[in-house]
Amino acid sequence: MKILVVGNGGREHALAWRFLRSERVKQVLCIPGNGGTATLEGCINVPLLLDDFAGMRRLAEVQGVALTVVGPEVPLAKGIVDYFQEANLPIFGPSRQAAQIEASKSWAKDLMQAANVPTAPYQVCPDRATALAYLEGCQFPTVIKADGLAAGKGVTIVRDRDSAIATIERLFEQRPQEPVVIEEFIPGEEVSVIGVTDGETIRPLIAAQDHKRLGEGDTGPNTGGMGAYAPAPILSSALLERVQKTILEPTLAQLRTRGITYRGFLYAGLMITPGGDPYVIEFNCRLGDPEAQVILPLLETPLESLLLACQEGRLAQFPPLQWRSGYCATVVLASEGYPDSPITDRLITGLSSLPPDILVFHAGTKRKNDQLYSSGGRVLNVTALGEDLAAALSKVYGAIGSIHFDGMYYRRDIGWRALADRSQP
Ligand code: AMP
Ligand code: GLY
Repeated sequence: MKILVVGNGGREHALAWRFLRSERVKQVLCIPGNGGTATLEGCINVPLLLDDFAGMRRLAEVQGVALTVVGPEVPLAKGIVDYFQEANLPIFGPSRQAAQIEASKSWAKDLMQAANVPTAPYQVCPDRATALAYLEGCQFPTVIKADGLAAGKGVTIVRDRDSAIATIERLFEQRPQEPVVIEEFIPGEEVSVIGVTDGETIRPLIAAQDHKRLGEGDTGPNTGGMGAYAPAPILSSALLERVQKTILEPTLAQLRTRGITYRGFLYAGLMITPGGDPYVIEFNCRLGDPEAQVILPLLETPLESLLLACQEGRLAQFPPLQWRSGYCATVVLASEGYPDSPITDRLITGLSSLPPDILVFHAGTKRKNDQLYSSGGRVLNVTALGEDLAAALSKVYGAIGSIHFDGMYYRRDIGWRALADRSQP
């Protein structure tokens, strides 16, 4: 069968790679793909724009694609799934209405409140005056969020009233029509639990931890993610069960109450408080990036069978998911100047001499004259499996020593929380 993967990041390279490990999958078409999917055996890049729904639908029809899987949130929020479904083409992902769980923070918060899902107390402020008035009663730090999609830049944690006022002024100046959400700051450790669902049944994938900050020790500006590992030891099986019962299932039930059948990945970004309670910080309507790069190498169940079962509404009958034992870790190699103004078009060398157990999922790369160049902020995800996290990380960092491009930046402390926990008595 042929699978179509929409997107061009490390997550989509990992999806294409995982699909092609199944006997049944003969070819993956990647729109538009990157320098990694370009040379992945069995994968072909098709240079269409991510908003060219008509072009993608034609491609799926002409090629007889068995399933289309959408990586990023923007095409989902714009209704790619509805558009494919109108033509009866199999596609895995939430509809435009369901994708609001990521595309509108206020919609998601109201849904969580109605579902009685633990999340920070909040206020939706439709205009500047309401927001400034609400601030009067706030404790600091507090969290201010733009309502709509903002490519990871819509959230500001403010430490005092002056910066809160400045943030509110900025948000209403940039997007005067959109509300802002002000919510309580929840301290703790973050972890990502991604459910896979057909709208009736939801099963969690193995939990992953992403390092979103640019600097070591989880400091500096937020990024798309600088590295990740799975499974995340903070999520014990008891806690995962609790997340399933008090977060994933009630959210799905509340969506159904609103007439929405949510099919796709449902990403719960959780904060685990020092007392061990999980709170939802955000929902995303897709797989995480770089979480996918560490979850998919551990998944033994054929991915196309799982996603087709969801797409066809038979997840309840699907056998339990199978996982490899051990850990997977990935470290992002980023461009100089990332995240604000990455410098790209730099020659990348050293990939051909890596040991065979290193997986390199490309993010911002392109091929030119048979050579590989950087083309985005996050460039490569260097990934390895290991018996334990330390073993996986040591393979990754060993391999990074052989890779080079000018201005290459990466964090040397991915996994530090889990390694520190492990060394405690
Ligand atoms: P989001 O885009 O909603 O994931 O927010 C970006 C980051 O801001 C999260 O990964 C958290 O680190 C932080 N954050 C968001 N909301 C809260 C909150 N209520 N309490 C503490 N940290 C938060
Ligand atoms: N790694 C965070 C995200 O995909 O949103």
